[in-house]
Amino acid sequence: MALNVIMLGPPGAGKGTQAERFAARHALPKISTGEMLRDGIKRGLPLALKAKEKIDRGELVDDRTMIGIVRERLSRDDTNAGFVLDGFPRTVFQGRELDAMMEELGKGPLIVIDITVPEEELVRRLAARRVCSTCGMNAEPIGEVASVCRRCGGTFAHRADDDDRVVRERLRVYAEQTKPVVDYYVGRPTFRAVNGAQPPDRVADELEATIVDAARTLVGFALGAQGQAGR
Ligand code: AP5
Ligand code: MG
Repeated sequence: MALNVIMLGPPGAGKGTQAERFAARHALPKISTGEMLRDGIKRGLPLALKAKEKIDRGELVDDRTMIGIVRERLSRDDTNAGFVLDGFPRTVFQGRELDAMMEELGKGPLIVIDITVPEEELVRRLAARRVCSTCGMNAEPIGEVASVCRRCGGTFAHRADDDDRVVRERLRVYAEQTKPVVDYYVGRPTFRAVNGAQPPDRVADELEATIVDAARTLVGFALGAQGQAGR
């Protein structure tokens, strides 16, 4: 059964950190819409350059652009065994479109993880965050800040949208437009909340157990449906 995981959560919740770890552990592609946009800006791609102003202000990029990017990525064969989606959907409209896409592409149900962290901790993390200016990887939460990136040897810097004023706008936009996405999924049997306010290893352990549990729920449903069909 494919593991189609989406990671929800406010800016700084640890979506990227945990998506990376879970995807590597299960050999699944990690699809991070924020990273795709930042990478596109670096490479001078027109669509990403057009989105840059919004990203710099802490606003959301328009739904049509984001849905197009994700549809193209999910159409590739490497997502057949599953994927980990980080940063999408961010509006209820994107959520509905993702459901339609899953149906259209013949993919199974979604496992929805909401990583929760109190706001003061989010602000603290984003003010402290350093990312590699070459490959975009986060510096480790503790200890690696003064050294170089272990993936590519690049140097660390603030992420452009981690400026205090922009962070406040990102949190406002999250509350207004993305929190309703949690409400959109909350009634599903495969929706789970994970406590992100623990050390990263503990979050990763809780996430692993939670996703395994949600996947079991899906197997239960599939077996139930088979049983019904066989009657
Ligand atoms: P995006 O890149 O997705 O940014 P975000 O949602 O604001 O989230 P972050 O990447 O800041 O946080 P994260 O949850 O990934 O946390 P991380 O693991 O890095 O989007 C950027 C912009 O792109 C958006 O504002 C928007 O303009 C646009 N965009 C993207 N997708 C879009 C969409 N679908 N629709 C419209 N627009 C879209 O961790 C944060 C820090 O905390 C790091 O320093 C990390 O090392 C540290 N940390 C992580 N876990 C822990 C822990 N457990 N304890 C202590 N520190 C931790
Ligand atoms: Mg991220």
